[in-house]
Amino acid sequence: MNADRKLISEEEIRLMVSRVAQQINDDYGDEPVIVICILTGAFIFTADLVRELDMPVTVDFMKVSSYEGDTSTGRLNVIKDLSCDIRDKNVIIVEDIVDTGNTLFRLRKMLADRGPKSLRICTAFDKPSRRVADIEPDYNGITVPDEFIVGYGLDYNELYRNIKDIRIIGD
Ligand code: IMP
Ligand code: MG
Repeated sequence: MNADRKLISEEEIRLMVSRVAQQINDDYGDEPVIVICILTGAFIFTADLVRELDMPVTVDFMKVSSYEGDTSTGRLNVIKDLSCDIRDKNVIIVEDIVDTGNTLFRLRKMLADRGPKSLRICTAFDKPSRRVADIEPDYNGITVPDEFIVGYGLDYNELYRNIKDIRIIGD
């Protein structure tokens, strides 16, 4: 396995973060927002994104995994839940990448049931060609082709998260 093929540069990522943050700033104004970082992949994107946000921001973390196999009845395994109550709050879920969308579909439902004032999805990368679930990110950084990408927080077997740009995994 190697990660030699570059797909997205550090500069493109920087511009993407600024653009997404600008959209969020425009949409929320001075309204307070709770940013939920989905561990582990979104930790770098979240760190960059929140530093560009202008409203009062609180950050919380959640770690989940999907039981694969039966996607229609698939369940969400909550490994780490939120520390805060999101009832009547503006919530933005921050993900590293939306692939099939199954994880976010289940997570969105779980969080919606807790009664937030608003609930939106922000992803650094989107792979719409593989989508199965009915998920459309409200804020999308960069649309990527159907390749397995690593870097900027995204892993292959927990490796390569620390690469600064985005690479395609190959043999
Ligand atoms: P989904 O439920 O299929 O949308 O899975 C989303 C999760 O799968 C993401 O949060 C990532 O952790 C992981 N994932 C999907 N595609 C990639 C990829 O190309 N590189 C690294 N992780 C990925
Ligand atoms: Mg992952």
